Amino acid sequence: MSLLYCVFGHPIHHSRSPDIHLAFARQFGLDLRYEKREAPLDGFAESVAAFIAEGGSGANVTVPFKQQALTLAGQVSDRARRAGAINTLKRTDAGDLYGDNTDGEGLVSDLKRLGIEPAGANIAILGAGGAVRGVLAPLLAQQPKRLVIANRTVARGEQLAQEFSDLGAIEAVAPDALSDAFDLVINGTSASLSDELPALGNVSLAANGWGYDMVYAAAPTAFMRWASEQGGNSADGLGMLVGQAAESFYVWLGKRPDPEPVLLQLRKQLSA
Ligand code: ATR
Repeated sequence: MSLLYCVFGHPIHHSRSPDIHLAFARQFGLDLRYEKREAPLDGFAESVAAFIAEGGSGANVTVPFKQQALTLAGQVSDRARRAGAINTLKRTDAGDLYGDNTDGEGLVSDLKRLGIEPAGANIAILGAGGAVRGVLAPLLAQQPKRLVIANRTVARGEQLAQEFSDLGAIEAVAPDALSDAFDLVINGTSASLSDELPALGNVSLAANGWGYDMVYAAAPTAFMRWASEQGGNSADGLGMLVGQAAESFYVWLGKRPDPEPVLLQLRKQLSA
């Protein structure tokens, strides 16, 4: 019988996860089924239970169930607890659910794929919502020289800085208070969803610096165009999407897929 996986969300029709995981499975000749499951807004726990009863081995979890998934997992990884969200569930041998969050590792692996070395770098992150919280622990583990959260609402950045202070130093400032050049500026605001440019204050990119947008899009986002105008490099978050999926695949199956061909295929589909 083939292994059964799925992604839970609401809505879920737009999800690219089945394509990604089926492509990964092909790399290893694995017989794997991966479905999209739209759980009712008030029926996530029941949907997960039904899936496990059907023999599901693991699932990805996306909006709006990532926080709720924390209440379903008997065991939770430290990075998921820190993120306050689970994007990967795995049925353990004991029949229990293990919850993990691979978003931050997806970002870090994509940065490295692009040749961006977070270790020792000056990094600014725009935004202080769930997307940013989800990547802080893996980013701090890389030991950047400086990590600054520049959020419109400074108190939200300060809160994150405090919560993660045992893992490393984070400065929390208003975008207007920044006037430095950074090796890497990460856009973790939801502004890109409407192709708006988040407030950047006087932030600039260092020579050969990068603007990385956690959102992906068919065309460069307003933030990516800003990075280019600065004379810097830019990337969207499609590689992060594939990277988090690769890390989920590893959590489930202990195998590390090659993200590169899958990323090329997705990019082609996105621009078609
Ligand atoms: P998500 O879970 O996607 O991170 P969120 O928790 O609603 O969503 O957080 C969105 C983040 O984007 C917030 O940090 C928000 O700033 P505030 O904390 O000040 O609300 C930020 N954001 C959204 N639109 C923005 C914009 N146009 N410019 C700057 N920041 C923006």
